Amino acid sequence: MTTVAAALLHLWFLSHPLTVSSYNSSNGSMQPSQLSETLQEPRIYRIQHLPANSIISQNSSIEVMQSVPVEGRAGDSNGKRWKTDDKSKVIPTPPPPSPRSPTLSLQRYIWTLTPIEALLFAKKEIDHAPIITEDAELYAPLFRNISVFKRSYELMEMTLRGPYTTVAHTELKENAIKVLCNADLSEGIFVAGKDVSLPETTIKFPKKPQRHIGGGNRVSQRPILAFFAGYMHGRVRPILLKYWKDDEDMKIYRRLPHLVSKEMSYIQHMKSSRYCICPMGYEVNSPRIVEAIYYECVPVIIADNFVLPFGEVLDWSAFSVVIPEKDIPKLKEILLAIPLRKYLEMQVNVKMVQKHFVWHPVPIKYDLFHMVLHSIWFNRLNQIQDPQSH
Ligand SMILES: *[C@@H]1O[C@H](CO)[C@@H](O)[C@H](O)[C@H]1NC(C)=O
Ligand SMILES: *[C@@H]1O[C@H](CO)[C@@H](O)[C@H](O)[C@H]1NC(C)=O
Ligand SMILES: *[C@@H]1O[C@H](CO)[C@@H](O)[C@H](O)[C@H]1NC(C)=O
Ligand SMILES: *[C@@H]1O[C@H](CO)[C@@H](O)[C@H](O)[C@H]1NC(C)=O
Repeated sequence: MTTVAAALLHLWFLSHPLTVSSYNSSNGSMQPSQLSETLQEPRIYRIQHLPANSIISQNSSIEVMQSVPVEGRAGDSNGKRWKTDDKSKVIPTPPPPSPRSPTLSLQRYIWTLTPIEALLFAKKEIDHAPIITEDAELYAPLFRNISVFKRSYELMEMTLRGPYTTVAHTELKENAIKVLCNADLSEGIFVAGKDVSLPETTIKFPKKPQRHIGGGNRVSQRPILAFFAGYMHGRVRPILLKYWKDDEDMKIYRRLPHLVSKEMSYIQHMKSSRYCICPMGYEVNSPRIVEAIYYECVPVIIADNFVLPFGEVLDWSAFSVVIPEKDIPKLKEILLAIPLRKYLEMQVNVKMVQKHFVWHPVPIKYDLFHMVLHSIWFNRLNQIQDPQSH
């Protein structure tokens, strides 16, 4: 598995129609002109990490990082070896961090590595991530391990470089990391830990995707316990409706009736509800999850086998409720059993997690575009095995 992808950092990006799929990594941003070009290209992109061999000395005797594979050593016995695209046997040691910019010198070092070596290096660095408990730009309670995410994100920024190239389908099946909204484990297509769950987002105003986000009501002004309105497709929604359509505390509609929406729009409903029910449709994903996050309503996800977006770094239990399909009859009981203190915490966390689910015309740090990129990066790291650790 891993040897197939050895020579290049094979990250593949199977994009959603509106997904920004290419950017100029020289300063981590994307020009609007490039954006429109990108959207007209075929929807499969390959992120290719170009090797930078120039600094690798052919006969250096310096031993480096134990994690970095060296040809002719580990792995030989079972006939597997890393195919690297340069002939070097040894890689130089990382330079001593320059006091002015340790990041820059580390980045320079990373660029001397072959792609696979760079990944192994990053993996090891992440395993030994400096422990942090808080960060000015990140809200720690959202993360499974904020130290891991922070270090991984930094290494991603230092390691991934353009350009992205478009390629044909043939190699995809073998080598692809798929990025799918329909991250459904039960179909045998999406592979947990390898593929990436892409949050489905409805972008109402592409020029200003952030419009209308936030501004949800305080908890005291959220009289509705739980809200759902939508079509009845898929296996879950009819059951939801059957049990809860007439409940007084929850507003569960087939579609929002005109008489109701005249008084209170769909968005207003979300802003006035404590929980927003996000049942799967035909597919496990639902744009409601991101909508709920935008309108500061705690999402209640009902879709068995759904791999939640960014689940490898985000702790969804901090800001959402996941209910198994079989527990729909107990929905109200489950929601009412959540203590107010826990609810308030989740609601704060929903606000804090918003920025990780927002698109920008030009991507910014930690936004949805970069979170998706980070998921691809992180899962790619998970796929590669360090031959020297066995
Ligand atoms: C870097 O990003 C800014 C926008 O943030 C843009 O104006 C500038 O042209 C970009 N530079 C390069 C080299 O892409
Ligand atoms: C090997 O090292 C010697 C002496 O340090 C150097 O002159 C030579 O160019 C090196 N060879 C290669 C292939 O790097
Ligand atoms: C987070 O990950 C780091 C690096 O692997 C580890 O040292 C640390 O113990 C982890 N922290 C928690 C709270 O699990
Ligand atoms: C990124 O922008 C710079 C400066 O505008 C340009 O020289 C470079 O070719 C661009 N790279 C890609 C991958 O588009």
